[in-house]
Amino acid sequence: MMRLMRSWQVAGLAARSLSTQNRSKVETVQNDLISQQYMEREYKFGAHNYKSLPVVISQAKGVHMWDVEGKCYFDFLSAYSAVNQGHCHPRILEALQQQAASLTLTSRAFYNNILGEYEEYVTSLFGYDKLLPMNTGVEAGETACKLARKWGYLVKKIPENQAKIIFVNNNFWGRTLSAISSSTDPVAYKDFGPYMPGFSLIPYDDLQALEEAVSDPTVAAFMVEPIQGEAGVVVPSDGYLRGIRELCDRYNVLWIADEVQTGLARTGRRLAVDHENVKPDILMLGKALSGGVYPVSAVLANDEVMLCIKQGEHGSTYGGNPLGCKVGLVALQVIEEENLARNAEKMGLILRSELSKLPKEIISVVRGRGLLNAIVINEKFDAWEVCLRLKDNGLLAKPTHGDIIRFAPPLCITEEEITECVGIITNTIFSL
Ligand SMILES: Cc1ncc(COP(=O)(O)O)c(C=O)c1O
Repeated sequence: MMRLMRSWQVAGLAARSLSTQNRSKVETVQNDLISQQYMEREYKFGAHNYKSLPVVISQAKGVHMWDVEGKCYFDFLSAYSAVNQGHCHPRILEALQQQAASLTLTSRAFYNNILGEYEEYVTSLFGYDKLLPMNTGVEAGETACKLARKWGYLVKKIPENQAKIIFVNNNFWGRTLSAISSSTDPVAYKDFGPYMPGFSLIPYDDLQALEEAVSDPTVAAFMVEPIQGEAGVVVPSDGYLRGIRELCDRYNVLWIADEVQTGLARTGRRLAVDHENVKPDILMLGKALSGGVYPVSAVLANDEVMLCIKQGEHGSTYGGNPLGCKVGLVALQVIEEENLARNAEKMGLILRSELSKLPKEIISVVRGRGLLNAIVINEKFDAWEVCLRLKDNGLLAKPTHGDIIRFAPPLCITEEEITECVGIITNTIFSL
């Protein structure tokens, strides 16, 4: 606790030393509680299933967030890439407010007047025949797996209950029983068994292993992230995505691309698969599909696959609700009209080139695409400690796997802001 108090004192100093440009929003903070009290209350009444950085956020705008004491930070996580458009984007908020005032939820028991417009926009943007709406990323994954199994039985004619889905080591697609059944992380799966049958694992970025796996005639699908996000921003070799496409075509296996984190301009393209100009059979989207204001996810596929699921065979009370659809529609329009993919690519190049100049004895690796980046901290240093110091200096990032820190700011970040952030990171690294 002493160490928390000390870091907040430092935080206050750092906040004052940061440039005040774009920070005029720090208004009088009217809160009864201080950060420590908020954290203690969560600890007392909430489940202990997260290890959050000790900072309590009460406001955010664009690339900035403010804590309950009024200190300003750069957000270098973007809620795990859900806030690509920047926090509280005015157009998305306006859509949310307007739609909330007229219709929020009908369930799919009835039609609503927004779902079709949203489906038409999204399918034409990504070039698929159909969309199946869900809410969270993991539900998109569950939906993709169900769809692939159905297709496996109806179209590929896999014998009943024998369909397999291939995943890769260190994948992450959420926390449901299916998702953890395909996990290689004991923290995610241990003591939650028994596990979903019909799931197999192969190494990532290994086309030979993929060919061996998909040559099994009972394989319905291969599910993979084009860049592994939670694994620590692992970028595969050039040609991997094209190789997946070729092998899945050759062996009549569906390719499911999990673009929940990599999609929607994050890596400098509309989709990460666009870096190799390939198209998956099933596309999973989530997170930034709503710009961080509401849970919206989607699965896209062409008719031959999507129409395998018939009326009553799958669904969700909130999936396709008019509020989520309106938000999703505008969130995508913002990504397109503000050219966020282009900005992500440009800013990512600057960020990686600057971070690469830092001492290799401290930061052994800098990697990423667009604004999905990570640094690997030398084992002599503790990534959690580095994140605490970054916080003190006004930048919020989260470690993953002990020695990796992801740097993924909102995609609207400017060159001036990236330069300021590089300064914060550099000062922090040199203070270790
Ligand atoms: C690649 C990927 N897929 C799926 C998910 C699950 O999304 P959600 O947390 O919205 O269920 C995540 C979450 O981090 C993810 O990174």
